[in-house]
Amino acid sequence: MSEPFYITTAIAYPNGKPHIGHAYEAIATDAIARFQRLQGRDVRFVTGTDEHGLKMVQTARAAGRETLEFADEMSSYFRDMCDKLNISYTAFMRTSEERHHQASQALWTAMQERGDLYLDRYEGWYSVRDEAFYDESELVEGEGGVKLSPQGTPVEWTVEETWFFRLSRYQDALLELYAQNPEFIQPESRRNEVLRFVEGGLRDLSVSRTSFDWGVKVPGSPDHVMYVWVDALTTYMSGIGYPDTSGDFARFWPADVHIIGKDIVRFHAVYWPAFLMSAGLPLPKRVFGHGFLLSRGEKMSKSLGNVVDPMELADLFGVDALRYFFLREVSFGQDGSYSAEAIVTRVNADLANSFGNLAQRTLSLIFKNCDAYLPAIRGHADEDAALFQLVGSVVATEIPAHFENLAMSQALESWMKAVFACNAYIDAQAPWALKKTDPERMETVLATLFICIAQLAMAALPIIPEAATKLLDQMGVPESVRNFAQIGSHWYSPLAESDFRIEQPKGLFPRLELDLESGGNP
Ligand code: MF3
Repeated sequence: MSEPFYITTAIAYPNGKPHIGHAYEAIATDAIARFQRLQGRDVRFVTGTDEHGLKMVQTARAAGRETLEFADEMSSYFRDMCDKLNISYTAFMRTSEERHHQASQALWTAMQERGDLYLDRYEGWYSVRDEAFYDESELVEGEGGVKLSPQGTPVEWTVEETWFFRLSRYQDALLELYAQNPEFIQPESRRNEVLRFVEGGLRDLSVSRTSFDWGVKVPGSPDHVMYVWVDALTTYMSGIGYPDTSGDFARFWPADVHIIGKDIVRFHAVYWPAFLMSAGLPLPKRVFGHGFLLSRGEKMSKSLGNVVDPMELADLFGVDALRYFFLREVSFGQDGSYSAEAIVTRVNADLANSFGNLAQRTLSLIFKNCDAYLPAIRGHADEDAALFQLVGSVVATEIPAHFENLAMSQALESWMKAVFACNAYIDAQAPWALKKTDPERMETVLATLFICIAQLAMAALPIIPEAATKLLDQMGVPESVRNFAQIGSHWYSPLAESDFRIEQPKGLFPRLELDLESGGNP
């Protein structure tokens, strides 16, 4: 049986519609999931919506809506976004679902049985926007001396009877975890933040609320609902069947990687492993905190009024184009900036003018000069061997290594290097001029290019699944070889010797125009 691989996105608060940051995280996570499938792994990929907490209650109330009914509607926008962007999740979890409540209660009970939960009075600062408790010492001063959270969000003084989790007990175990598993928190800068935070000493964490009742009921304490982060994190387990520990959970837990934004690393790298240690469950293998997307350098936020609806962007530029841009332009882990001009420039340069043009030129020549039959390889020139060698090592070695490191932009840099090499080869060999002078050589050149393009299309499947699939379909590349282990060249001769003929090739990578007023993508 193939090796399991389990990946998650953070689950979004559906108190507003999805923004670019949600789309970016879903796309990046999806590319990794698709890559792992092409490596032959059996993949589970969980995403969803984080529907409890005071923020949802307040937003629904302000909209004059009943909370669950509001959550139903809002959650659907996130699912629609995922579907539109070709996100290949295996479960879309909503935390308001009954099975999720059961999972959260099972985790709670396990922590309670370990003796890590006790009742006390919480008095301190809470940020509804972040759904986070902060220590006085962490607060910063905003305009007019108001206290703000370290994320710059408003905080309110909260006094309540709550359950506490003995986080303080786990300080040493956490420090040991980070020391023994340096790859647990990535990238490196995030790891340092967490180390400093934990070394500074951990206080017990308030893990229930009594001032509202929208949440998962605390077992045996009907007046308490769980602190939203306790149940939210549990999604990573409920999404693969927990509390049933026999089926997928047994096979896929612990997660290979949680993909999250850099602002929520503390919850994932401190609270989450502590909860799991307490419950006696295995810990995720890594937590990766990606950066933020800035619109021309400013963080996107509703208050700045520059939120760009990812659905609109996908309509304007195309889903593959958007996916390509995000993963090529932004080094994963770092902040990146976005603008319509940057998308158009990047997509036209790489996809339309380089890869798209290469495929279109090659397939058109085969269609015209070879009567649409795939040409045979008739001889071996050094230039052919050199191209096979370069494209082969990019596809078989460099790209997989970058993907394993979650370095998608580097994978695409390697990919473009191979695309350039193919374009240099086609220009140097000029197969269009060989038809009369040396038709056998023309055939060899076109066959060489065909094989290389198929390899590059396969390697691009995680990033631009739609266009790459259509191209491989046009080329007649068998489904069974569309993966990293099989894509070599052994399939080519049987295909060329069969009666397969290509159709008149249609361009799959349109040039984008920066004419947003009239709809952008012509
Ligand atoms: N809803 C949180 C946020 O948007 C993320 C929750 S991720 C999980 O910041 F860990 F709770 F799953």
